[in-house]
Amino acid sequence: MSFDMIKAAGALHEANIIDVGGGVSTLVDTLLLNGYKRITVLDIAPSAIKKAKARLGAKADVVKWIVADITEAEFAEMYDVWHDRAVFHFLTEADDRKRYVEAVRSSLKIGGHLIVATFSLDGPTKCSGLDVVRYSPQTLHAEFGDGFQLIEHQAIEHVTPSKVVQKFVFCRFSRVS
Ligand SMILES: C[S@@+](CC[C@H](N)C(=O)[O-])C[C@H]1O[C@@H](n2cnc3c(N)ncnc32)[C@H](O)[C@@H]1O
Repeated sequence: MSFDMIKAAGALHEANIIDVGGGVSTLVDTLLLNGYKRITVLDIAPSAIKKAKARLGAKADVVKWIVADITEAEFAEMYDVWHDRAVFHFLTEADDRKRYVEAVRSSLKIGGHLIVATFSLDGPTKCSGLDVVRYSPQTLHAEFGDGFQLIEHQAIEHVTPSKVVQKFVFCRFSRVS
């Protein structure tokens, strides 16, 4: 779904794409395999970045890796696509969500696409023992505001390796102002 939404965003191979909280996800592998050239992966956990780099081997050299807390990160470049699966929903404090939205507004191009996947309203209340905030497409849109237009949303049932079903909602917004 992440890759499908990036393609649906119309991202060309030269598009500048950031995967926020990418962790050990293989989205970066898929993007590289499909010809995308400008990819950044950010995560708060140095161990996750280390594992992802080791998995990719020499291919990791063409990716930009950032170890940072997204609520404190500052970016030197502007992105065409901002992707986040299962990070925003961990922000249970309004101030952290505000800082996250400011980071998006300062580094996503006008016309760029914001793809955020969170647990849905009927999804789990916790993940890895941590509280989460659950969203509908409308309540997620409200977090980002009128500068973003909701383009599409998809409900997904993710089955974890321990066979637990986690209900997600994937939303794609276009930055309009
Ligand atoms: C549930 S995992 C999701 C990983 C990946 N996006 C995926 O879909 O498989 C959440 C990831 O977000 C990272 N993370 C949590 N809080 C973060 C923050 N404030 N800033 C950056 N990364 C964060 C974690 O280290 C972890 O890798």
